[in-house]
Amino acid sequence: MQHLIETTDLNDKGINDILRDAKRFKIQRPIALLRDRLLITLFFENSTRTRSSFEVAAKRLGASVVHLDPSKSSTNKGETIEDTFANLCAMEPDGVIIRHSQNETPGQLAKMEMTSVINAGAGSYAHPTQALLDLFTLQEHFGDVRGKTIAIVGDIISSRVASSGIRLFTRMGMNVLLVAPKPFMPPSELPQYETLEEVLDQVDAVMSLRAQLERHTSVIFDNYGEYSSHYCITPERLGSRDILILHPGPVMRNIDISDAVLDDPRCKVLDQVKNGVFTRMAILKHLLLDA
Ligand code: NCD
Repeated sequence: MQHLIETTDLNDKGINDILRDAKRFKIQRPIALLRDRLLITLFFENSTRTRSSFEVAAKRLGASVVHLDPSKSSTNKGETIEDTFANLCAMEPDGVIIRHSQNETPGQLAKMEMTSVINAGAGSYAHPTQALLDLFTLQEHFGDVRGKTIAIVGDIISSRVASSGIRLFTRMGMNVLLVAPKPFMPPSELPQYETLEEVLDQVDAVMSLRAQLERHTSVIFDNYGEYSSHYCITPERLGSRDILILHPGPVMRNIDISDAVLDDPRCKVLDQVKNGVFTRMAILKHLLLDA
């Protein structure tokens, strides 16, 4: 039984197989490789892209998907998450795709070894499928990503997208720079900068992140207007530089990225969403069929 809690669960061959299959699926939609398989999505936090992306990916491969809405489930009546999970597993799904505010939850459920567990975002710890789809998008543009430099900009300390991205991009030989105001900067060995201006001449890509207000225990900035005047990706800041702009969504317009840059061909936000479906199809194939 194979789980995906973090990208470190995959060996190099696994990562390369997923990237190769995602590329193949983008060129030609595959036959129903997962016909007769059943997946359950269990999202304890809000999601637009990730949940629908997994559901579309599963359906494109012929699998059935059932969604449990935790706000209407018995965890609200005091049932433990382990019991909720065990009850879902009694219905014999082939996998449970889970998002949770606690870093440890997907890993703890995986240890029960009842079904394949796929982490769709856990606290600030990991979001492995986002990191893989971001890597796919970078590879699609650059070919080999080894030696390319990416700046991760914004609320890095609270971001599971940044956590997984940093681990995966450095593993693939990329240089990762961190750009954030002090309260958003995690402890890290990576090069750290407080302003975008210091890095724009040395990067091939910028990944902008949303302030994770739901994870802040106290107010960090009263006014995101002031924050945006330093960290928003604008046409004035970018100039004519050939830099790829990524963001996992949801984008806070004109705080993270300006309207004009969102419409600029250098901005790959919707390509990331499109690639997310192919990458998750490849991940589901890898976990449920190849493993
Ligand atoms: C992110 C998340 O929920 O971790 N979005 C996503 O999955 N594409 C990032 C965010 O909420 O800012």
